[in-house]
Amino acid sequence: TGVVTLDPGFTNTGSTTSAITYIDGDAGILRYRGYPIEQLAKQSTFIETSYLLIYGELPTETQLANFTSRINRHTLLHEDLKRFFDGFPRDAHPMPVLSSAVSALSTFYQDSLDPFNPEHVELSTVRLLAKLPTIAAYAYKKTVGQPLLYPDNSLGLVENFLRMSFGFPAEPYDVDPKLAKALDQLFILHADHEQNCSTSTVRLVGSAHANLFVSVAAGINALFGPLHGGANEAVLQMLGSIRDDGGDIDKFVQRVKAKEPGVKLMGFGHRVYKNYDPRAAIVKQTADGILESLGANDELLDLAKQLEEVALHDDYFIQRKLYPNVDFYTGLIYKAMGFPTKMFTVLFAIGRLPGWIAQWREMIQDPATKIGRPRQVYTGYTARDYVPGDNR
Ligand code: CMC
Repeated sequence: TGVVTLDPGFTNTGSTTSAITYIDGDAGILRYRGYPIEQLAKQSTFIETSYLLIYGELPTETQLANFTSRINRHTLLHEDLKRFFDGFPRDAHPMPVLSSAVSALSTFYQDSLDPFNPEHVELSTVRLLAKLPTIAAYAYKKTVGQPLLYPDNSLGLVENFLRMSFGFPAEPYDVDPKLAKALDQLFILHADHEQNCSTSTVRLVGSAHANLFVSVAAGINALFGPLHGGANEAVLQMLGSIRDDGGDIDKFVQRVKAKEPGVKLMGFGHRVYKNYDPRAAIVKQTADGILESLGANDELLDLAKQLEEVALHDDYFIQRKLYPNVDFYTGLIYKAMGFPTKMFTVLFAIGRLPGWIAQWREMIQDPATKIGRPRQVYTGYTARDYVPGDNR
């Protein structure tokens, strides 16, 4: 069986080759299929970027129109799947609701489950891209006790999602184009990030030849964790508790530095980025503008800025190369858009979906793929004999 090299957290273990996303953590570089994230965030759209990640090239106008209309044809949920949302408690967190509904897609759409049938993979790709925003909006509607809206396929993906989230059946809903643009940009920034925890999960589950729906559901569950996508929600909780505790930034930073159990500066630090997170730089640039145009004058934003200032000049954070990551400011923007804290990680999931799909497809097509099966170093008892109950 040979010698096993331990690498907890896989900090230095490459699990695959990949042609999708390039990160240089020291230089703060992030590119999808070679295109810098800064250019895509400014010039592309989420749907176009999804196409780029999944198919490898930017679409022509015709390709984009076809892709968009294919997605639009699949935004409806099966009526029986809609009933899922009745069954959850109203105060349920929407992330497990999301992953349950995505798992359930594999029960409703059994005609697109074969990982090695390109038509099946294509259909499940389109179904997922089309249905996740609908599922996400329904998970939200459930928490606020409002009626579910059918998708309006004359709208774009983001506009449709906003309408299904914030609209009412009896009233027209005017999508604020600035809000839609900002959300579209945030989705682009989240769209892929190579072999992070949730993406590695999607690949690992898929490596057992599990279908795309259940592989993505597993990724959603990984993303739920506060050290991963759940951080955007945790940042807001942290800022709220600092405010409630009198707004004393220094006191909070002391607690972080003392490593009090469970006390971390959420939204800071990254496994790969050690100088800055290029996504955070873009979010920060746009945060002020978006918050201003939404008329949000948030005391938590002021706290976040002060906290960032203090941390960036503190030796603890400097020595450990801890900088704001993508999650530090996104929650404040989502809050200003009207989303409750519980929905933040759901928004991350919508953004990350094309990345999960692209990585799963690359994995399944790669002849070098084997079932993911790490080894261990055993530290338990050596062999010992069974002792009958009355002798223990
Ligand atoms: N606050 C305080 N100390 C920290 C933080 C933080 N946010 N992050 C890392 N450290 C310390 C850590 O205690 C360790 O200290 P020491 O060397 O004295 O033991 C040192 O910095 C190195 O940290 P690590 O935990 O070994 O680093 P990692 O690569 O295993 O973890 C991380 C990366 C992102 C999980 C971590 O930085 C963290 O928990 N950050 C807060 C949660 C967060 O914002 N997550 C979002 C990440 S970006 C988007 C995403 O992936 O979803």
